[in-house]
Amino acid sequence: MGSPDIAILGTGSYAPEKIVTNDDLSQRVDTSDEWIFSRTGIRERRIAGENETTSMMAAAAARHALASAGVTAADIDLVIVATMTPDLPMPATACFVQHLLGVPLNTACFDLNAACSGFIYALDTAWAMLASGRYKHALVIGAEKMSTVLNWKDRTTCVLFGDGAGAIVLGPARGTAKILGTRLYADGAHTDLLCVPGGGSNVPDPSADPSGPQRHMTMKGREIFKVAVREMEDAAREILAQHGLVAAQIACVIPHQANQRIIDTLAQYLKLPADRFFVNLHRYGNTSAASIPLALDEARRAGRVKAGDTTLLVAFGAGLTYGSALVRW
Ligand SMILES: CC(C)(COP(=O)(O)OP(=O)(O)OC[C@H]1O[C@@H](n2cnc3c(N)ncnc32)[C@H](O)[C@@H]1OP(=O)(O)O)[C@@H](O)C(=O)NCCC(=O)NCCS
Repeated sequence: MGSPDIAILGTGSYAPEKIVTNDDLSQRVDTSDEWIFSRTGIRERRIAGENETTSMMAAAAARHALASAGVTAADIDLVIVATMTPDLPMPATACFVQHLLGVPLNTACFDLNAACSGFIYALDTAWAMLASGRYKHALVIGAEKMSTVLNWKDRTTCVLFGDGAGAIVLGPARGTAKILGTRLYADGAHTDLLCVPGGGSNVPDPSADPSGPQRHMTMKGREIFKVAVREMEDAAREILAQHGLVAAQIACVIPHQANQRIIDTLAQYLKLPADRFFVNLHRYGNTSAASIPLALDEARRAGRVKAGDTTLLVAFGAGLTYGSALVRW
């Protein structure tokens, strides 16, 4: 007997209330709305409250996903939170989410860190676990409080990111909808292009380091731009070829929401019109692992995802990691 078909049964998202515009940022660092918008497409981002944790945002998105799937917390037996900004180094943010939602005890709960590709990695993992037949309903969540790892004095990074969460419920396929495939990649030769140098076992106490605030994200923006476009194109082309599809058959592409220029270049390379891509980064900036599920939820609610359609999800991030997924609705 083959593996059971697994589908996205519901989606949900959550964005913190506080909006920080490019003009607001220009009061804090030497930048402007014109510079940020023309280089990135970002107009504003959401910033979580001081006491609002990654797990709270994750749980809020998950509640919407459960309602949209018509599934209750009691039906869930797997929770994966993709995040690079967990509530604490341990325990896992997924355990906080489980408790907040009242998900039963006989549930596997863990975090997964593949930075901005985290949601694709978590989707792949949950899909495999469900396809094994050993788990039935998974909450797959991307949630980030990026504001806590940004250096708010560094204009080259702080203007790019935002906070938020997105979630899906994965479960037994109903009708035509199913996950067609996923592909994951990593290139560990480039860990230095995008990282948070301190806070791990290598630099356990970043504040003790006299050379600077190592708990903040550092980035080589130009280099990242170049590899991001190439990696996303490879991840898209290879999954399409694997499934005997061409780009023109994709109704909607949901790319990682990092930069409008990266998305436009990808569209050119794949020879797809720009309107085939769902983009909401002008309102949220780059929310890392939350970006694809947050965009997917908004795309579904905007009617951009219809029964029978095939959607391509494609991401890249620190690691460098990258990956893609094909979803039939
Ligand atoms: C970050 C990014 C927008 C920068 O755009 P760019 O055209 O490459 O700009 P550069 O880094 O070459 O900087 C050009 C100038 O703008 C300045 N600058 C950088 N950030 C600025 C800001 N927020 N406001 C105003 N000026 C800024 C730089 O200091 C530099 O000035 P200089 O020429 O006097 O040295 C772009 O490289 C990018 O999007 N990279 C990908 C980043 C990304 O997506 N990361 C997440 C991966 S998941």
